[in-house]
Amino acid sequence: MEVELRNITKRFGEVVANDGINLTIRGGEVLGLLGENGAGKSTLMNVLSGLYSADDGEILIDGKLVDFQGPGDSIAAGIGMVHQHFMLIPVFTVAENVILGVEPTGKVDYLDLKKARTQVREINEKYGLEVDPDELIENLPVGIQQRVEIIKVLFRSANVIIFDEPTAVLTPQEVIEFFEIVKTLRDAGKAIVFITHKLHEILDISDRIRVLRRGKIVGEGDPITITKTELAEMMVGRPVSFDVVKEPFAPGKVLLDIEDLTVLRENDDVAVDGIDLKIRSGEVVGVAGVQGNGQSALIEALTGLTRVAGGTVRFMDKDITRASTRARHRMGFAHIPEDRHRMGMITKFTIAENMVLDTYYDARFSKRRVMNWPKVYENSARVAADYDVRMTSVHDTAGHLSGGNQQKMVVARELSRETKFLIAAQPTRGLDVGSIEYIHSRIINARDTGDGVLFVSSEIDEIMALSDRIVVMFEGRIVAEFDATTETPDKNTIGLAMAGAVA
Ligand SMILES: Nc1ncnc2c1ncn2[C@@H]1O[C@H](COP(=O)(O)OP(=O)(O)O)[C@@H](O)[C@H]1O
Ligand SMILES: [Mg+2]
Repeated sequence: MEVELRNITKRFGEVVANDGINLTIRGGEVLGLLGENGAGKSTLMNVLSGLYSADDGEILIDGKLVDFQGPGDSIAAGIGMVHQHFMLIPVFTVAENVILGVEPTGKVDYLDLKKARTQVREINEKYGLEVDPDELIENLPVGIQQRVEIIKVLFRSANVIIFDEPTAVLTPQEVIEFFEIVKTLRDAGKAIVFITHKLHEILDISDRIRVLRRGKIVGEGDPITITKTELAEMMVGRPVSFDVVKEPFAPGKVLLDIEDLTVLRENDDVAVDGIDLKIRSGEVVGVAGVQGNGQSALIEALTGLTRVAGGTVRFMDKDITRASTRARHRMGFAHIPEDRHRMGMITKFTIAENMVLDTYYDARFSKRRVMNWPKVYENSARVAADYDVRMTSVHDTAGHLSGGNQQKMVVARELSRETKFLIAAQPTRGLDVGSIEYIHSRIINARDTGDGVLFVSSEIDEIMALSDRIVVMFEGRIVAEFDATTETPDKNTIGLAMAGAVA
């Protein structure tokens, strides 16, 4: 099967989301589509899946012109899309979700769930998906829910499968498993479109690469020969540096002193199991680890968001083990939380409101409980500009910003005051290279101006790029430590420690 997109143009008001795009998609091949947030990737695929109708251009399938009036036509033509946000019903089972909309009925008018279950099992078998048709969606981890979406499109006999940023929600281990599934689908002759803004992923899985920027195809590459640097430049439209520029390592005295810290989960399982760690001024300590090994609990304990079960935490020689979050904030703690939507911002608030979420009570912004809004607006406009938050105005709803700009807004709020200690969790997850480069430079700037930095990431490359010292967490303990100022630790050794294999 071959799908050809010819000269596709799609506008939203003033915005030209797709600008005369030509693209061919072939069976037995993974086409990697790379582009920053807002480049037009989802729009193009929504045109192909019949959700949007293009303003101009045509779609040909095996040389024949098609005219999609809606998603039904696209599905009937063999095109299936796995959306960025899954479209599953949590209280339904896998099989019930799979047959939604195409309910195979028996002679009388009732759902033939038994047949659906059998078909789900067959698809499972054929592509090695291992999903229980009778499990409720809400009981399944994200990685398995994604497989349900795959089963859904296969159930509808898709020959072209579009994945819109499929790895954004996956753990590193789930990504590996997902890539295996993609290869199986490709080898079975399916045409795969794989959308991402992550350079290493596009190089790992694609047979052919196209780069999209501002609605246009701006480049292509052979995954075997093209480099990350070349791809990044095509994607962003300017050279991007992967090397983080830092001042020489010159740590000061110990700022944060963690002794024998133990933190329990809600169900009383041990999340952090007696950790000792000292972090000095002017030093970045990177905590590497596969998610779920206690990193989140450690950060919640250090920011005062959760209670400590044992041990002590001292900050500048003061016991803060039980200090409130606001007290820590006033001592100069800054926190870039792991989940910006849940803990870093209020998506329905404006940018200006979000910028004072933790300082609204400050004398600069309010007096006797009355907000000085002009002051808030003026301050947030200045800070947003300083931190390169791309927006129309500070009165924009924060939730409407792109992910990268939301994160820059959080970083701006946290770092645009006198800080002494920065705690950053997965600070660049899901962001495009331009924003990653920017946020890294801000973290390093905090370190270079004397802050202590504790930063958690599940990306080994990011840990290696930023850290002066690397500790690896596994099952609540620090299982390995590397001094990155005197040696370059081996990536494999860190990876093995993350998996719990410590000599
Ligand atoms: N439904 C829509 N209404 C208005 N503008 C949209 C809509 N969908 C996308 N856009 C705009 O079109 C451009 C491309 O967006 P999108 O295709 O989602 O990019 P990507 O998937 O590459 O991040 C962006 O400027 C975006 O704001
Ligand atoms: Mg998109």
